Amino acid sequence: EKDILDQLPLKGKRILITAGPTHEALDPVRFIGNHSSGKMGFQIANAAANLGAEVILVSGPTHEKISHSLVSVKPVVSAEDMYSEVHKHFETSDIAILSAAVADYRPKNVAQQKIKKKDTAFTLELEKTKDILKSLGEIKKHQFLVGFALETNNELENAKGKLKSKNLDLIVLNSLQDKGAGFGVSTNKVTFITASNAIIENELKSKAEVAQDLMQLILKQIHA
Ligand code: CTP
Ligand code: CA
Repeated sequence: EKDILDQLPLKGKRILITAGPTHEALDPVRFIGNHSSGKMGFQIANAAANLGAEVILVSGPTHEKISHSLVSVKPVVSAEDMYSEVHKHFETSDIAILSAAVADYRPKNVAQQKIKKKDTAFTLELEKTKDILKSLGEIKKHQFLVGFALETNNELENAKGKLKSKNLDLIVLNSLQDKGAGFGVSTNKVTFITASNAIIENELKSKAEVAQDLMQLILKQIHA
């Protein structure tokens, strides 16, 4: 019986995950987006559910699919939608893992009709979106909070900065320097950094394996 319990170490735990890009509308036919495929977040959802956790997966527009009895997908479009959906579930969550590539800016004005082209250049005014992860860091109580950092330079320093400024327990550094890591592909090379500044480097692995490694590290950290 103990073996069975060991195999489902997250049974009864609720995990909130964000995945994918966000789309920020410009007018009824256009948006600002990014190249996030959602693959990493969906793999984390799968890995967490395989450990027995009840998963809420808040996902921006993606082609990824998941069918697991323990995973409930909440589709959203914009950063604002994602913020609202995440805050509905955070209080009752034990762990939150925010892997979504959320837009930092959105068009200040959304045109109700399609914007017509003119002869002149077009300047688009942008305003900041809410930082979802940071907002959770400000209100977290018992929750174990995990963020991602996508960096192209000064990677460790920037990731450590985000760990601190967003009040995280763990950050997953995604370096776009590495070939085979990042958008669209099914492999990733990440570095885990804990709140006590332990730095755990990994080889290039499938996103499924990275997700399993991440869940094992979180398990270790919450039991420590
Ligand atoms: N994030 C978020 N809400 C936002 C922006 C980012 O929840 N509006 C989260 C991401 O899901 C990720 C972490 O914050 O877990 C870091 O995202 P990243 O884009 O690397 O960092 P930023 O804080 O947005 O800073 P910058 O893009 O300038 O590096
Ligand atoms: Ca950002």
